[in-house]
Amino acid sequence: MKKLIIANWKMNLSPEMAVEASKNLAKGETLWRATDKQVVLCPSFESIAVAKNALENSGIKLGAQDCFWEDKGAYTGEVSPMVLKSLGCEYVIIGHSERRRELRESDKDVNRKTAAAWRVGLTPVICVGETFEERQTGKKDFVIMNQVTKALEDLAWPSDGNLIIAYEPVWVIGSGQAVEPAEAEHVAMVIRQVLLDYFSAENAQKVKVIYGGSVNVDNVADFTGSSAIDGILVGNASLVAENFIELIKKV
Ligand code: PGA
Repeated sequence: MKKLIIANWKMNLSPEMAVEASKNLAKGETLWRATDKQVVLCPSFESIAVAKNALENSGIKLGAQDCFWEDKGAYTGEVSPMVLKSLGCEYVIIGHSERRRELRESDKDVNRKTAAAWRVGLTPVICVGETFEERQTGKKDFVIMNQVTKALEDLAWPSDGNLIIAYEPVWVIGSGQAVEPAEAEHVAMVIRQVLLDYFSAENAQKVKVIYGGSVNVDNVADFTGSSAIDGILVGNASLVAENFIELIKKV
């Protein structure tokens, strides 16, 4: 199975910076064509079209950082999943903890966005993870099971669909301190168990469970070296192309 490496650029790069970073990354062509790795860049919305041009024929795929749950209509300020698909996105991050926290995004929103992504043929990257307080009070596994359950409630596996669940402990994102790989492996198994409640074993197996939260060049191999972890979601360490390339080489 290919290891998935998703870069979440958040709101950090202007379109000019995103083009430059994409061009620099596209230069690592042999790296991107390695059969055991798939790199996906998630620029902010305004940079998607220009990043797409810069990545032409590079083997790097594109994703968005969010989408709305309707394709079209009177929804001021929202972004259509259908349009993201037509711009060349193949993936969409849904329910990132920053959106859950800052924009009050609910489990129901995550569920509707996941349905919308599947409807238009985007692969949802659903983010789940516990806060420090939830962890300290022993609720971690329950919180994660609950988030996965609610995200998938009443959804049927689409015939040609795919799904990624990213375990991102909220308290380590951007902190510089990742969790122990064994802990990420444990959570990956908890997530896999929930998936079996929803989908056939065959479809559940297609789901990639990845880890995110302060992944860097020094710790990346500890996560991607595990057969329980199918890839990584990288924020800060993906912003400078040269550094991100070094990180990918370690996968
Ligand atoms: P980080 O961000 O790598 O900077 O911790 C990860 C994320 O938020 O997806």
